[in-house]
Amino acid sequence: MKPVNIGLLGLGTVGGGTARVLANNAAEIARRAGREIQVIHAAARGLGDSKPEGTANVDITEDAFAVVNNPEVDIVVELIGGDSPARELVLQAIDNGKHVVTANKALIAKHGNEIFAAAQAKGVVVAFEAAVAGGIPIIKAIREGLSANHIQWIAGIINGTGNFILTEMRDKGRDFADVLKEAQELGYAEADPTFDVEGIDAAHKLCILSSIAFGVPLQFEKVYTEGISKVSQDDVSYASELGYRIKHLGITRATEQGIEMRVHPTLIPERRLIANVDGVMNAVLVMADKLGPSLYYGAGAGSDPTASAVVADIVDVTRDLTTDPENRVPHLAFQPDHINDTPILTMDDVVTAYYLRMNAEDKPGVMADITRIMGEAGISIEAIMQKEPAPGESTANIIMLTQRIREAQMNQAMVAIQALDAVSGEVTRIRVESLASD
Ligand code: HSE
Repeated sequence: MKPVNIGLLGLGTVGGGTARVLANNAAEIARRAGREIQVIHAAARGLGDSKPEGTANVDITEDAFAVVNNPEVDIVVELIGGDSPARELVLQAIDNGKHVVTANKALIAKHGNEIFAAAQAKGVVVAFEAAVAGGIPIIKAIREGLSANHIQWIAGIINGTGNFILTEMRDKGRDFADVLKEAQELGYAEADPTFDVEGIDAAHKLCILSSIAFGVPLQFEKVYTEGISKVSQDDVSYASELGYRIKHLGITRATEQGIEMRVHPTLIPERRLIANVDGVMNAVLVMADKLGPSLYYGAGAGSDPTASAVVADIVDVTRDLTTDPENRVPHLAFQPDHINDTPILTMDDVVTAYYLRMNAEDKPGVMADITRIMGEAGISIEAIMQKEPAPGESTANIIMLTQRIREAQMNQAMVAIQALDAVSGEVTRIRVESLASD
């Protein structure tokens, strides 16, 4: 059978990895795909005369549209990232009747609805396994492997850079900026590392997971997003004393009122498997009604691991070349006419437990005032701990764990506590999830 021709957009960390993996494992990949897969045209900037591994016979141009418009290209693989021109290139490829593979989470999260509608109309596939959790085949697992189930919730460590930073802070007490620099040098961090640190990258991925879990349109703008830049060494240590680890989680949950989509630092019991996922590794815990919990673990970033997911998509699309467009796996797991409009909840309506830390004067009545406010807001305290004031200081750290409560009630209590004369500064609040299976 005639080889499948790939047009590769981008030869950076992931694009270079994809060319290398396709070349290194060519025979094994062809055995699986049923035909040879060859990169014939690639677009990259600033390479000069150098040819990355696996591209010796590839025509390399700086004009990405030349690749997308090349009539010999069957599958366009978009690995340049970002919004524009990635969106225009992908839409042009679809318009040209080409299938697309992309690792671009921002593109899918923000423009996926438009892109999938265009692909549907043209009868082509847009595959995006590498957009979420790097090399872990989590899209395939949820979209296909769990199709018998109602998904109840998903909680994932889906940003490797953030997990690397939190792990190094906890284990080695390392400085935030120093660890981030190392993640950048290792090729894990986004071009703009605030995407990692402030949770935007995780929000892109969570939004995609939520849509394929619950059959709702992609709604990136409704993801509540909080990063790790305010997590302090104190909180990491206090969480540990209480038997918890702080992880940066993306959480999406189906409730009777609607769907939660939120990304934030989270205390989770240290005995949970996912609490022990360290360094740059990712893990996604899926709770499904028939299977129960299942955990997917692996490298969430890096050249070869991400290329592994890209190439798996290329193999899938190669197999799809001979299938009837009506009988392919739907882009968002559910048939396009069965995507529904279940509301997405605002944070005020989310119900969760909390870790609170506040700095208060060490004098009689302060603790009573704080606990009275909590009681009046209907918040039950699960654990409480006061640290002795440091030598020469008159204020002490008070740490609390609460039971689950609607976030709006917690906000009210925090405002009242912060208004107490004896409490200085803001109350630190980190959400707590048990991630239990019941
Ligand atoms: N910057 C991302 C991360 C890369 O650190 O997880 C993979 O999407």
